[in-house]
Amino acid sequence: MNKIIIAVDGFSSCGKSTLARALAKKLGYLYIDSGAMYRAVALHFLQNGIPFKPEEREDERIESALSDIQIEFRNTPEGKATFLNGVNVEEEIRQMRVADHVSKVSTISTVRRFLVKQQQELGKGKGVVMDGRDIGTVVFPEAELKLFMTAEPEIRAHRRLKELLAKGTPMTYEEVFANLAERDRIDSTRADSPLKQAEDALVIDNSYLTPQEQLELALRYAGRHLEISEN
Ligand code: DC
Repeated sequence: MNKIIIAVDGFSSCGKSTLARALAKKLGYLYIDSGAMYRAVALHFLQNGIPFKPEEREDERIESALSDIQIEFRNTPEGKATFLNGVNVEEEIRQMRVADHVSKVSTISTVRRFLVKQQQELGKGKGVVMDGRDIGTVVFPEAELKLFMTAEPEIRAHRRLKELLAKGTPMTYEEVFANLAERDRIDSTRADSPLKQAEDALVIDNSYLTPQEQLELALRYAGRHLEISEN
């Protein structure tokens, strides 16, 4: 069977990674969380005091910091994890310290070029499900299947709050809602590769869908493309 590239884009906390991971498992494809790569870069900048806010950025320092970064996805007993320069940072990149800054880091064109190149390399062999913000528009504009995920902001904030509280991060609903709204604002209005729906993307609003229902819907969409690409 021919392998295809599946791009899953959408707003923050829309269930993109849940769907993308489940799709990849079902199809025997590789799953790549491109957001984890932006988070790893943001963590490296925070750890090393690299200024990334627009008013204090220095191109040379950013370029030099990027040349020190190696990001990998490795299998661990807890599942697939993001490694930054050989260290498992999976937990750390999900913390609010990183969530609060990652959108700003991801507006930097040098950072985007650095990561997009690696993402394209990872998808070279096809048979990949990648989730993010610009996968269907910039990373793989030729992807055979593009899904654009959305859900009502209040529902997304409740889901995210539940995840954070389960991990022991004390947050209020209002704080989570504000963080999501701010990330969506920065992600959709940045000059370089803003979050937007590709013209040929299929929209999945999962506000009232269970993870199983959204997987079934996506598999139906994928099935059509797999049939087409087999002919
Ligand atoms: O999917 P996520 O929430 O883990 O992504 C973290 C941040 O990274 C998000 O605020 C926007 C940025 N991002 C991006 O700009 N492009 C991508 N392809 C993936 C993530």
